Amino acid sequence: RASTAAVFLAPLASSLAGCAASEDVPSVAFGARLPIPPLDAGTVENGVRTFRLAAQPGTHEFVPGKPAESMGYNGAYLGPTLRASRGEKVRVLAENRLPDATTLHFHGMMLPAAQDGGPHAMIGPGASTSPEWTVDQPAATLWYHPHPHGNTEKQVSYGLAGLFFVDEGPQAGLPQDYGVDDIPLVVQDRRLDANGKLTFDPSGNSLGTLGNSIAANGTLGAVLPVTTQRVRLRILNASAGRWFTFGFADRRKFHMVASDGGLLAAPLALDAVQLSPAERAEIVVELKAGESVMLRSFAPDLGRVNPPEAFGGGKEFDVVRLDAAASLAPSPALPAAFTELPAPAGTTTAVSRSFTFNGRTINNKTMDMNRTDFTAVPGGSEVWFVDNVSAYQHNLHIHGVQFRLVDIDGKQPPPERAGWKDTIPLLPREQNRIALRMPQWSDPEHPYMYHCHLLTHEDEGMMGQFTVVDPSAAGGAATPSAHQH
Ligand code: C2O
Ligand code: CU
Repeated sequence: RASTAAVFLAPLASSLAGCAASEDVPSVAFGARLPIPPLDAGTVENGVRTFRLAAQPGTHEFVPGKPAESMGYNGAYLGPTLRASRGEKVRVLAENRLPDATTLHFHGMMLPAAQDGGPHAMIGPGASTSPEWTVDQPAATLWYHPHPHGNTEKQVSYGLAGLFFVDEGPQAGLPQDYGVDDIPLVVQDRRLDANGKLTFDPSGNSLGTLGNSIAANGTLGAVLPVTTQRVRLRILNASAGRWFTFGFADRRKFHMVASDGGLLAAPLALDAVQLSPAERAEIVVELKAGESVMLRSFAPDLGRVNPPEAFGGGKEFDVVRLDAAASLAPSPALPAAFTELPAPAGTTTAVSRSFTFNGRTINNKTMDMNRTDFTAVPGGSEVWFVDNVSAYQHNLHIHGVQFRLVDIDGKQPPPERAGWKDTIPLLPREQNRIALRMPQWSDPEHPYMYHCHLLTHEDEGMMGQFTVVDPSAAGGAATPSAHQH
């Protein structure tokens, strides 16, 4: 990490001293080298790729010289990038060194509910757990974070979040040298006080806490030295409530190559991509030798978004600067196409379900750990109609699956959302229709979650649960407490 760290300019202190709106992003000098989370391929023990993650308290300097209380996995802030291949058996030995209970959830992973680390899988202080499963899904940028019911915003915002790369062999034409031309980018807005400490004000906005500073891999004003002609950014919006519209300051085109659950059908030329909390996009951008270009979040060009503060208050702000070396190593050209993306093929005639998001409720209910909202058939086909009737936006994340967006208000989804998704934005008064193939593992005891991933909303109960139960096996077995057909 470079010692020429970002120097904060005056606006931070002054904007925070008064009753400035939290959307004011203070100016920051760009100069600190973008930290790259350590790559952790684990160790293979008895044929099982084994990772070790310890959730622990620490301190982290968002503002140089001003340590802030934080949390991290195997360190003070954020966590290593875990990496495993399709077909491998993996195990994660997770230890809780925090004073509070936590869980370890694998966001986007297709795995049995008992291994998924949702709110029922609490790990008490000093306790450990070791979920184990076989990775069986396309190459993708997934992530992990805690999920303790009612306390997720605090733990994620303090820094408990890391990426999990799923591989499926080499990817021809894509930059894939970790930390060199394949760059993990965990972007979070941070609400920092004048002492550089993390603060929270979930009541300040209908979306929850919004920050006044933008951190990339935990660093404000970060710079990425680029040594190759093309660079791949694997961007995760790990904010609690902030939405981003990422693009480059000069509006150059880039190619989006993957969404939440894997590659798109083909590289997609864009000049901006919107990510709501928990969504990911992999993009490839080309640079010329010697140039600098800023990755920026633009004010959205969307008529119905509300409140505007969540989109930067109509302002743009800078995220990370890419500085190209005086000479760049050549990169392979992007392929014309990646893969076919057939609709999810379930084993049954599609069941349809309707979900209405309103305030902090889904179908007029808030989360009840003891209520199963519905039961699905293993591998079954489902179509969900998801209506946001609130005046402000939500989003939808579903555990254990990668699904497809069929339409928005009857219209084709934008191409950046046409691939595999585990989280989709829900704009006010919009109906999103999605198609799913439900998880294949029957387990009446352990539910999967579906919820709004705006963390304040989630903590306040905007979440439901479903179990997956094989109807032929369910007869003699325990049935879920309150299932409906
Ligand atoms: Cu990213 Cu239910 O979580
Ligand atoms: Cu919400």
